[in-house]
Amino acid sequence: MDKAAKYATLKAQIRSLIEGETNRVGVLANVAAAMKEVFPEEFFWVGFYLVAEEELQLGPFQGSVACMHIAKGRGVCGTAWEKDCTLIVPDVELFDGHIACSSLSRSEIVVPIHHALSGEVIGVIDIDSTSLNTFDKTDGENLEEIAKILGERVG
Ligand code: SME
Repeated sequence: MDKAAKYATLKAQIRSLIEGETNRVGVLANVAAAMKEVFPEEFFWVGFYLVAEEELQLGPFQGSVACMHIAKGRGVCGTAWEKDCTLIVPDVELFDGHIACSSLSRSEIVVPIHHALSGEVIGVIDIDSTSLNTFDKTDGENLEEIAKILGERVG
Protein backbone atom coordinates (compact mmCIF):
# COMPACT_ATOMS: atom_id res chain seq x y z
CA MET A 1 0.00 0.00 0.00
CA ASP A 2 1.38 3.44 -0.82
CA LYS A 3 1.32 6.34 1.60
CA ALA A 4 -1.86 7.92 0.20
CA ALA A 5 -3.72 4.60 0.49
CA LYS A 6 -2.50 4.16 4.07
CA TYR A 7 -3.80 7.63 4.95
CA ALA A 8 -7.17 6.82 3.34
CA THR A 9 -7.45 3.75 5.59
CA LEU A 10 -6.28 5.74 8.60
CA LYS A 11 -8.80 8.55 8.07
CA ALA A 12 -11.69 6.09 7.74
CA GLN A 13 -10.51 4.30 10.89
CA ILE A 14 -10.22 7.58 12.82
CA ARG A 15 -13.71 8.71 11.75
CA SER A 16 -15.26 5.49 13.02
CA LEU A 17 -13.09 5.37 16.18
CA ILE A 18 -14.18 8.78 17.40
CA GLU A 19 -17.80 8.79 16.18
CA GLY A 20 -20.00 9.97 19.05
CA GLU A 21 -17.13 10.01 21.56
CA THR A 22 -16.67 12.96 23.90
CA ASN A 23 -13.74 11.78 26.02
CA ARG A 24 -10.93 14.01 24.73
CA VAL A 25 -8.04 12.05 26.24
CA GLY A 26 -9.48 8.73 25.07
CA VAL A 27 -10.10 10.02 21.54
CA LEU A 28 -6.58 11.42 21.16
CA ALA A 29 -4.99 8.32 22.72
CA ASN A 30 -6.79 6.04 20.27
CA VAL A 31 -5.93 8.28 17.32
CA ALA A 32 -2.23 8.28 18.31
CA ALA A 33 -2.36 4.47 18.55
CA ALA A 34 -4.08 4.17 15.15
CA MET A 35 -1.49 6.43 13.52
CA LYS A 36 1.39 4.43 15.02
CA GLU A 37 -0.22 1.15 13.87
CA VAL A 38 -0.58 2.35 10.29
CA PHE A 39 2.93 3.88 10.13
CA PRO A 40 5.01 1.80 12.60
CA GLU A 41 8.32 2.38 10.83
CA GLU A 42 7.82 5.94 9.64
CA PHE A 43 6.38 7.40 12.88
CA PHE A 44 8.93 7.05 15.67
CA TRP A 45 6.97 9.42 17.92
CA VAL A 46 3.39 10.47 17.23
CA GLY A 47 1.12 12.43 19.48
CA PHE A 48 -0.46 15.64 20.58
CA TYR A 49 0.45 18.83 22.38
CA LEU A 50 -2.57 20.78 23.63
CA VAL A 51 -2.89 24.50 24.34
CA ALA A 52 -3.42 25.07 28.06
CA GLU A 53 -2.23 27.79 30.44
CA GLU A 54 -0.83 29.76 27.48
CA GLU A 55 1.60 27.02 26.50
CA LEU A 56 1.59 23.65 24.75
CA GLN A 57 1.25 20.77 27.19
CA LEU A 58 1.98 17.14 26.41
CA GLY A 59 -1.09 15.12 25.45
CA PRO A 60 -1.64 11.47 24.47
CA PHE A 61 1.16 9.98 22.38
CA GLN A 62 2.90 6.82 21.21
CA GLY A 63 6.66 6.74 21.59
CA SER A 64 9.34 7.59 24.08
CA VAL A 65 9.18 10.02 27.00
CA ALA A 66 8.74 13.62 25.77
CA CYS A 67 8.96 17.14 27.14
CA MET A 68 5.88 18.28 29.04
CA HIS A 69 5.80 22.03 28.28
CA ILE A 70 6.52 23.99 25.11
CA ALA A 71 6.25 27.80 25.04
CA LYS A 72 4.63 29.64 22.12
CA GLY A 73 7.24 30.18 19.41
CA ARG A 74 9.62 27.54 20.84
CA GLY A 75 10.74 24.50 18.84
CA VAL A 76 8.85 23.14 15.86
CA CYS A 77 5.61 22.70 17.82
CA GLY A 78 5.63 26.17 19.37
CA THR A 79 6.46 27.74 16.00
CA ALA A 80 3.65 25.88 14.19
CA TRP A 81 1.28 27.13 16.90
CA GLU A 82 2.51 30.74 16.75
CA LYS A 83 2.48 30.90 12.95
CA ASP A 84 -0.67 28.78 12.72
CA CYS A 85 0.66 26.65 9.88
CA THR A 86 1.88 23.14 9.10
CA LEU A 87 5.66 22.79 9.42
CA ILE A 88 7.59 20.08 7.61
CA VAL A 89 11.17 19.84 8.87
CA PRO A 90 13.34 17.60 6.64
CA ASP A 91 16.32 17.78 9.04
CA VAL A 92 15.67 18.79 12.65
CA GLU A 93 19.32 19.74 13.16
CA LEU A 94 18.83 22.55 10.66
CA PHE A 95 15.76 23.94 12.46
CA ASP A 96 16.82 26.75 14.74
CA GLY A 97 15.48 26.09 18.26
CA HIS A 98 14.39 22.50 17.67
CA ILE A 99 13.60 20.81 20.99
CA ALA A 100 15.28 17.41 20.97
CA CYS A 101 13.16 15.06 23.08
CA SER A 102 15.06 12.14 21.57
CA SER A 103 18.44 12.17 19.87
CA LEU A 104 17.01 9.61 17.42
CA SER A 105 14.65 12.17 15.86
CA ARG A 106 15.86 13.33 12.44
CA SER A 107 12.80 14.82 10.70
CA GLU A 108 9.45 16.06 11.87
CA ILE A 109 6.02 17.35 10.90
CA VAL A 110 3.75 19.48 13.06
CA VAL A 111 0.14 20.31 12.12
CA PRO A 112 -2.10 22.71 14.08
CA ILE A 113 -5.54 21.56 15.23
CA HIS A 114 -8.21 24.27 15.13
CA HIS A 115 -11.38 24.60 17.15
CA ALA A 116 -14.17 23.85 14.69
CA LEU A 117 -16.17 26.96 15.61
CA SER A 118 -13.71 29.61 16.81
CA GLY A 119 -10.89 28.62 14.46
CA GLU A 120 -8.40 29.04 17.32
CA VAL A 121 -5.44 26.67 17.54
CA ILE A 122 -6.25 24.22 20.35
CA GLY A 123 -3.23 21.95 19.91
CA VAL A 124 -0.91 20.32 17.40
CA ILE A 125 -0.23 16.91 15.94
CA ASP A 126 3.52 16.23 16.29
CA ILE A 127 5.23 13.37 14.43
CA ASP A 128 8.94 12.55 14.54
CA SER A 129 10.88 10.17 12.32
CA THR A 130 14.31 8.62 12.79
CA SER A 131 15.09 9.20 9.08
CA LEU A 132 15.77 12.45 7.28
CA ASN A 133 13.17 13.80 4.81
CA THR A 134 10.33 11.51 5.90
CA PHE A 135 7.44 13.93 5.48
CA ASP A 136 6.07 15.54 2.34
CA LYS A 137 2.97 17.20 0.91
CA THR A 138 0.97 13.94 1.13
CA ASP A 139 1.61 13.81 4.88
CA GLY A 140 0.82 17.51 5.26
CA GLU A 141 -2.49 17.36 3.42
CA ASN A 142 -3.67 14.16 5.08
CA LEU A 143 -2.65 15.22 8.57
CA GLU A 144 -4.44 18.54 8.05
CA GLU A 145 -7.58 16.55 7.24
CA ILE A 146 -7.08 14.46 10.38
CA ALA A 147 -6.58 17.67 12.39
CA LYS A 148 -9.88 18.97 10.99
CA ILE A 149 -11.72 15.77 12.00
CA LEU A 150 -10.23 16.11 15.49
CA GLY A 151 -11.04 19.82 15.78
CA GLU A 152 -14.68 18.95 15.24
CA ARG A 153 -14.60 16.28 17.96
CA VAL A 154 -12.25 17.54 20.67
CA GLY A 155 -12.46 21.30 20.10
N1 SME B 1 10.69 18.22 18.60
C1 SME B 1 9.61 18.99 19.10
C2 SME B 1 9.42 18.77 20.57
C3 SME B 1 8.49 17.67 20.88
S1 SME B 1 9.16 16.13 20.75
O1 SME B 1 9.66 15.94 19.41
C4 SME B 1 8.06 14.96 21.08
C5 SME B 1 9.76 20.47 18.81
O2 SME B 1 10.86 20.97 18.51
O3 SME B 1 8.75 21.13 18.86
